[in-house]
Amino acid sequence: MSSVASVRIHASQFPEKVRRDLLESLRTRHVNHKFHYDSVKQTQKWLALHQEYSPSRHDADCQAVYEQGFKTAAARIKSQRIHVIGLGCGGGQKDTQLLKLLKARGWEIFYTLCDVSTAMVLVARQTALAVLPENNCFPFVCDLATTDDLPDALSARPSTLDPRLLTFFGMIPNFEPQIILPKLASLIRKNDFLLFSANLAPGKNYAAGMKKILPQYDNPLTRDWLMTFLLDLGVGRNDGELRFEIEYDRANGLKRIVAGFHFTRRCRIKVANKVFNFRAGESIRLFFSYRYTPERVRKVLARFGLEVCDRWITSSKEEGVFLVRRSGVSGERR
Ligand SMILES: C[S@@+](CC[C@H](N)C(=O)[O-])C[C@H]1O[C@@H](n2cnc3c(N)ncnc32)[C@H](O)[C@@H]1O
Repeated sequence: MSSVASVRIHASQFPEKVRRDLLESLRTRHVNHKFHYDSVKQTQKWLALHQEYSPSRHDADCQAVYEQGFKTAAARIKSQRIHVIGLGCGGGQKDTQLLKLLKARGWEIFYTLCDVSTAMVLVARQTALAVLPENNCFPFVCDLATTDDLPDALSARPSTLDPRLLTFFGMIPNFEPQIILPKLASLIRKNDFLLFSANLAPGKNYAAGMKKILPQYDNPLTRDWLMTFLLDLGVGRNDGELRFEIEYDRANGLKRIVAGFHFTRRCRIKVANKVFNFRAGESIRLFFSYRYTPERVRKVLARFGLEVCDRWITSSKEEGVFLVRRSGVSGERR
């Protein structure tokens, strides 16, 4: 394997743009969640917590649910060549399971791995190289939420003609649906398939389901990962308190877990000659995670012209995988 990796970086992640996004996060007191994956240190912390807590890493039932989604998607695609596009690929573990399955069928695979974090893209590339040759992997760094020319950027390579399977695993919880879903929908062409996964609120009672999963967020690894953003800006652990709460987003009819840092004393953050003062009693939102139900996934995707044609839910009802197409092209069940 070559000791050099070629990574394309979109202007949405050029330093000047990232600096503006950071200032905006501090001004609005709403941290863009991409800043929790920015550095090598944060990437490693997130990968460690994912390894520790993600059911997809430990729970055979959850792994089987992903596997069923992969098999069904593969069965639906009538081709021996495929372009897999991992949107928000993270460490690439789920995408690589999918690549393995496709490779076992003897398909020629091209893989574009896309994430906002250069470190994450390099980790995912390394994971994928266990299955694919370097020349078939196209690492791409971009901010999916702010990029307007993604359809062009993603169809440029490797070929515009191959059928495409896009993945969007574990991403939807961390974005406002009205921001990310139009972008996602703009990428799905008539013959493309999308595999989409989400953490869910279990059970029939949405509020009770949210209460049940709240403790999953409040653990030392997650606290440490989220606090890294503030600590690196000079905030002290004792300058306030990190709290996890349930919030209702009325506009979308969705509930989410919100992590906020509540200052208990005055604090000053200085970035690029801009000063942000926080008084005792003020807070900054560090993170949110929407929890959907299968029906809420179906409804919210439909609003943006995307149709769920199949789905698989874990027996805990806490995670689901959805096979999605553009509305009107599938004619499938559910
Ligand atoms: C919860 S992880 C999911 C990773 C992977 N898909 C999985 O399921 O294991 C979220 C991923 O989204 C990436 N991300 C966050 N904000 C992003 C953005 N604006 N554009 C692209 N990727 C983003 C992070 O770097 C991280 O790798």
